[in-house]
Amino acid sequence: MRQTLSTAPGPIGVFDSGYGGLTILSKIREVLPQYDYIYLGDNARTPYGTRSFEVVYEFTRQAVSKLFEMGCHLVILACNTASAKALRSIQINNLPQIDPQRRVLGVIRPTVECIGNITHSRHIGVLATVGTIKSESYPLEIHKLFPDIIVNGEACPLWVPLVENNEANSDGADYFIEKYINELLSKDNQIDTVILGCTHYPLLLPKIKQYMPAGITTVAQGELVANSLKDYLLRHPEIDAKCTKKGNCTYCTTEAEAKFSESASAFLNKIIDVQHIALE
Ligand code: DGL
Repeated sequence: MRQTLSTAPGPIGVFDSGYGGLTILSKIREVLPQYDYIYLGDNARTPYGTRSFEVVYEFTRQAVSKLFEMGCHLVILACNTASAKALRSIQINNLPQIDPQRRVLGVIRPTVECIGNITHSRHIGVLATVGTIKSESYPLEIHKLFPDIIVNGEACPLWVPLVENNEANSDGADYFIEKYINELLSKDNQIDTVILGCTHYPLLLPKIKQYMPAGITTVAQGELVANSLKDYLLRHPEIDAKCTKKGNCTYCTTEAEAKFSESASAFLNKIIDVQHIALE
């Protein structure tokens, strides 16, 4: 059934299962500060990375519908798991019914587009959630553009819980950071570039850098996604015209407001107001 949606211009929606999308949002706001944004974290149901295709698709569909109801015409899935498991289905099955003029974009394609210029050995690694690795989205997308690149992936199921539970800088985090990096690199000793294919992982960067051997480039997605969005808005003035530009950002979570506010404020280095919303 078609939702009744406002046709008035609105903010750009940025969605993630939890805090990870904030790493994308902050880079987007650096590159495109003039736009308005709504950030939505489904913290009450995080992590998505270990969930089935059906569940990730349904949760992501609910989030996109909510952001459309809140006035967004353009939504960025700032989550690799949702981009891998739900983006295409939403674009094909849901957008035509909801409103064919609205747009939903992901984070995998903008990352993949840049990778051919970064690797010299043409051997790359991907660290991501179980869902993203099992979906094979990275090798599939990379081989469409760069058939010669050899891709190996490693799932890091404990990294998102470390971030969501504020343990990113704890001593206990080291064991699992080192373990997944070593497991990836043991698959191919010619890897010279490692994609952090989960938007939560830049929050672990201090420890990732500690265990990543010198000479291997670690690629975080924020800047790549932000530049790609800038380019997209230039190429699509009809979508750009539907995005309001007052430089505001509203933060929403499915969890308790105080919990999100405390963790997100620490990451963003400023106190933010948070609104609780329910997804269904
Ligand atoms: N931040 C998300 C990603 O980029 C998902 C993490 C999760 O909920 O497992 O994959």
